Amino acid sequence: MKHIVYVTILIVVATLVLLFVANGVQWMPVQASFEAISIDQLFGLHIDVIVILYALVNGILLYSVFAFRRKKNDESEGAFFHSNSKLEIGWTVVPLIVVLYFAFLGATVLGQNLEKGDDELEVIVTAQQWTWSFEYPEWGIASTELNLPINQRVHLILKSPDVTHSFWVPEFRLKQDAVPGQETNLRLTPTLLGNYKVRCAELCGTSHYAMESPVNVMTAEDFEIWRQKRLGIYVEPEGEAQDPAELGKQVAASAGCIACHSIDGSALVGPSWKGLFGSTRSFADGSSATADETYLHESIVDPAAKLVEGFQDLMPKNFAQTLTETEITGLIEYIKTLQ
Ligand code: CUA
Repeated sequence: MKHIVYVTILIVVATLVLLFVANGVQWMPVQASFEAISIDQLFGLHIDVIVILYALVNGILLYSVFAFRRKKNDESEGAFFHSNSKLEIGWTVVPLIVVLYFAFLGATVLGQNLEKGDDELEVIVTAQQWTWSFEYPEWGIASTELNLPINQRVHLILKSPDVTHSFWVPEFRLKQDAVPGQETNLRLTPTLLGNYKVRCAELCGTSHYAMESPVNVMTAEDFEIWRQKRLGIYVEPEGEAQDPAELGKQVAASAGCIACHSIDGSALVGPSWKGLFGSTRSFADGSSATADETYLHESIVDPAAKLVEGFQDLMPKNFAQTLTETEITGLIEYIKTLQ
């Protein structure tokens, strides 16, 4: 009996200390969506249960190691137990109830988060080796960045033309696979202004690690300005034009170019950009050309037209849709600076 009292005290104390520590740790990045609230609550509940289980198992283990050590010169056999039905039923039924309860909570939260809302902003997300592109069918615009107005419920429709990818924005706490041959759905309401990233969370080939794109949660006003820029109807206030090469550098990162094209001369999936401008390119069909502005433009919007020798036809073919002419010019200007 005294053992049970001691081990109970040990477990309770260990649980309290560990709960204090575990709840003091900031496990997650900022909470940037409405859906994240209930997911974080679930996560916290899991942590609590894990802490209790950890203290229970290790408390009994540690106590036994010290309290039931073999006494000096004690060579006798230990007591023999065959089984204990009560215990076995107990440790089967109790965890079963806990697991079923968590399954119920998880299904409830998932159901709520996927529920269709009215007045949703629809965005078609295309994941392909190794870029993301985002279409806003309501206005017929496309982008390599996912821009979202704050507090607006969004319906993402995920597609993949090649292999399975996974849309994952840790700040939204949401993840959904993009599967070839079918459409998957995700719904969310961004609630915190900021710049985040969508990362691919499914191993999808050579440049999987670099498959990420900006996700920007904007005010309704900023979103409207961006929307008008994409539509080409925005009137720039005086003196706000950006240096093209600087813009190109930003586009190279946000459009995913640097996942496949190095700027230091090293060979990745695609040819390096270092020293590219003005050089002579040899193509798979035996022809060659000088890399001037026209060539670079063509290679961005129609990458299969002249395939550089030694490289495969892997580049996405939709940059004519997802990039504006200003952005393409910026990219070319940026490549020119990489000598
Ligand atoms: Cu796409 Cu990993």
